[in-house]
Amino acid sequence: MLQHRYHWLVTGAAGFIGSNLVEALLKLGQRVTGFDNFATGHRHNLEQVKESVTGEAWMKFNFIEADIRDADACQAACQGADFVLHQAALGSVSRSIDDPLTTNATNIDGFLNMLVAARDSKVKRFVYAASSSTYGDHPDLPKIEERIGNPLSPYAVTKYVNELYANVFGRTYGMESIGLRYFNVFGPRQDPDGAYAAVIPQWIAALIRNQDLRINGDGETSRDFCYIDNVVQANLLAALAGNEAANAVYNVALGERTTLNELYGMMKVALQDRFPHVKQAQPQYADFRRGDVRHSQADISKATAALGYQPTHRIGEGLKQAMDWYVRSLSH
Ligand SMILES: NC(=O)c1ccc[n+]([C@@H]2O[C@H](COP(=O)([O-])OP(=O)(O)OC[C@H]3O[C@@H](n4cnc5c(N)ncnc54)[C@H](O)[C@@H]3O)[C@@H](O)[C@H]2O)c1
Repeated sequence: MLQHRYHWLVTGAAGFIGSNLVEALLKLGQRVTGFDNFATGHRHNLEQVKESVTGEAWMKFNFIEADIRDADACQAACQGADFVLHQAALGSVSRSIDDPLTTNATNIDGFLNMLVAARDSKVKRFVYAASSSTYGDHPDLPKIEERIGNPLSPYAVTKYVNELYANVFGRTYGMESIGLRYFNVFGPRQDPDGAYAAVIPQWIAALIRNQDLRINGDGETSRDFCYIDNVVQANLLAALAGNEAANAVYNVALGERTTLNELYGMMKVALQDRFPHVKQAQPQYADFRRGDVRHSQADISKATAALGYQPTHRIGEGLKQAMDWYVRSLSH
């Protein structure tokens, strides 16, 4: 896929998705600059990347510890970059309800800083993490890019504003961007801990550690869970696609809907050979969470047609591939 050696700037490089992008790019012989302030990311994620690539590949990585709310730092980071993969943001609907100001400052002011810096450095393309939360209260399933509803959380507002800004920068400055609306991504290095942890690593950690596990609502809430390798693929395709694909947003998901109860069952099956106590585990059901949409499923045909996106991993395959990491990282 990558004949040329490019220079990539990955923001949020110490986070879950960013560190997986860094790893994949280094393995492809690319030059990568990582940018992160460790707000929710971890140094150990970068150490794991270092361990998984050759010494020669690691030499092509440099890291900037800085905040995207610092416009000068964004300008410096974008210098000489061919592509920006902008992942840095404060994720989590719940966090944004608890602290809308910090979410806004990071996800909107920080995003705009990066957009301006990428424009000034004349990068070839700015690919950014958009979100399925932008569909808000629109009832249609599967979700089609052009049909969105009202945002249901401050987080969703910020991610929609990102799309609006990217679009306007295309019109007014001729800048090329692509927004990837991720749907519930999972895989190695996704943080299992803290109040805002995503469901898959949180539950796997609870099952392995034989701790209480809570399902918010009745368990019939559904999501389109997407393995990280599919997301990495979409980012590379988005950066390299012809310019007719630019200045648009694309769903990045599997295109399937799985309820939380089904997901819980799949996790038990994936874990019970190694952890026999998991067979007896029973979840507790709790209240629905504020700001959560009930059902989510993507139509991925736009990304398939315009970018050539073809997910390689379904949920079971993703869980299997990530299992060694889960066991190594979450057992204690
Ligand atoms: N994981 C998902 O399911 C999902 C779904 C939709 C969208 N997204 C988006 O994908 C992106 C990456 O998410 P993730 O799951 O890897 O989360 P993550 O929290 O693991 O990674 C985000 C990274 O951004 C960094 N960051 C946060 N604020 C920063 C700041 N002010 N300056 C510099 N760095 C900062 C964090 O330290 C962290 O390393 C985010 O933009 C998120 O909104 C994720």
